[in-house]
Parts: sequence; structure tokens; C-alpha cells
Amino acid sequence: MLPITAIGAALLAFATGSYAQNYTQSANFTLWLSSEDPVYNATFLVACHIGAASESLCPYSTLPKPSGVTDGTPSKFQFNTTSYSDGEGGYLTWGLQYSSKEGVFTASSGMSLSYNPTSNVAVPYFNPGPGKAVVAFDSNNYLNVPAYNSTDGTYYPLYHWYVCEKVDSNYGWTELVWVAGPGAPDRYPNCCPVGVVRVPA
Ligand SMILES: *[C@@H]1O[C@H](CO)[C@@H](O)[C@H](O)[C@H]1NC(C)=O
Ligand SMILES: *[C@@H]1O[C@H](CO)[C@@H](O)[C@H](O)[C@H]1NC(C)=O
Ligand SMILES: *[C@@H]1O[C@H](CO)[C@@H](O)[C@H](O)[C@H]1NC(C)=O
Ligand SMILES: *[C@@H]1O[C@H](CO)[C@@H](O)[C@H](O)[C@H]1NC(C)=O
Ligand SMILES: *[C@@H]1O[C@H](CO)[C@@H](O)[C@H](O)[C@H]1NC(C)=O
Repeated sequence: MLPITAIGAALLAFATGSYAQNYTQSANFTLWLSSEDPVYNATFLVACHIGAASESLCPYSTLPKPSGVTDGTPSKFQFNTTSYSDGEGGYLTWGLQYSSKEGVFTASSGMSLSYNPTSNVAVPYFNPGPGKAVVAFDSNNYLNVPAYNSTDGTYYPLYHWYVCEKVDSNYGWTELVWVAGPGAPDRYPNCCPVGVVRVPA
């Protein structure tokens, strides 16, 4: 079981408030990396704590062990899609467990990307409530970001995922990141391109 995270009253109120949108949620799945680097290849992703009610995505193989971050099993994720047209897209979600006087609860947390204006590297993170990053899975279950082609009105997948060392300044985690544009990450020195694959839980 993942550690129960105590979160602030404001975040809690947000987490338990109603969202003005209807999603269809997929079954649980896990996310695995495919990489030329044997340290990252065939390892799974774990939701790793970066701040109050905030998690990033860390490759299990890079986490210190034994570790309070994970029980050694892959984190479970879901894919939320809407009945509205989002292209092929939807939102990656993860359940944050928290406790209060009333008991233990799960706050569905959507993934967003944290952009930095001075860098092409954006860091995925989960907070309670709807996510802001539209993503998709291709027919081989690879996670991508769908881009809109205004000429023919279709979406095409982009796969700019990397794993970079020491992304979180507090915890020093090695994390999954997204690179805006086709270039290599310009912010962290040690990065490796990866594919992110969905596997049924
Ligand atoms: C969500 O679904 C409910 C029940 O079908 C409906 O009453 C409500 O208007 C929907 N909300 C939105 C934002 O579409
Ligand atoms: C999905 O995963 C969460 C977190 O591990 C778990 O609490 C929940 O029971 C799972 N749901 C199903 C339907 O297996
Ligand atoms: C990555 O892991 C998969 C599954 O274990 C294996 O088939 C593949 O050869 C590995 N690739 C590399 C580059 O090590
Ligand atoms: C995902 O969809 C489920 C089912 O509608 C909903 O309960 C949950 O709050 C949604 N999660 C996010 C982060 O939007
Ligand atoms: C957009 O669609 C047009 C027409 O099908 C095609 O020629 C062009 O290569 C596409 N652009 C991208 C970036 O896929």
C-alpha cells in the first residue's frame, strides 16, 4: 500500500468538490518504460511525491531502496475520456490516498505538465482534480501527446518523452519529462529518450 499523504484543507475541499465535467474512466493500468538504456528499460513508473498532494512519475529502478515511496509494485493509473471531442485525447489520472477524521479516501488526480519559460522541458505532475495535459495511447499502447493538423483536421501523435536525472530539486528524483518541440532536453544534463507503454494492471 502506498503511504497515505496528509494534505491541506484547501486541496482536500478541491479534491472532493464536484468537477463540472463528465468523464468515462478506464480500468486500472500500469506504465512501463521502453529504452535503449538498460537502467530504464522494462522498469515501471511510480507516482513519487514532490510536494503537498503533488506527485511526479519516477522509474522504479532509480528509486532508493528500501523506499517509503513505493511498496515495490507499479502505480495504478486510469485514462479519463470525455464524451466531448478531444481528438484522440484524454487525461491520465492517479488516485491519491489521504486520511481525515472520517477515514481514508482517494482523490482522483489528473496529470498536468509544468512548463518552464526558460526551458523546453515540461514535468508531468498529478494534483487532485482535473488534469490539464491531453494525452493519448496509440494502437501499440504507447503514450503520446496528440497534435492537431489544421490542414487535414486530424490528430497525429508526438512522443517526446525522456527520463532525466535530478529533476526535483527537493527530492532529487529521476523523472519522466516531456520536451516541447523535437529537440533534446535543454535543462537537465543527463536525459535519455524513452517510450511509455500502458499494460493492464
Ligand atoms: C454530466 O452528466 C449528467 C448526467 O448524465 C448531466 O445531468 C450533466 O449535465 C452532465 N454535466 C456536464 C457538464 O455535461
Ligand atoms: C485500481 O487501483 C487502485 C489503486 O491501487 C485500487 O485502490 C482500486 O481498487 C483499483 N480498482 C480496481 C477496479 O481494481
Ligand atoms: C528492453 O526490455 C525488453 C523486455 O524485457 C527486451 O525485450 C528488450 O530487448 C530490452 N531492450 C533493450 C535495448 O535492452
Ligand atoms: C475521472 O473520471 C472519473 C469517472 O467519471 C471521476 O470520478 C474522476 O474524478 C475523474 N478524475 C479526474 C482527475 O478528472
Ligand atoms: C497535415 O496534413 C497534410 C494533409 O494530409 C499533410 O500533407 C501534412 O504532412 C500534415 N502535417 C503533419 C505535421 O503531419
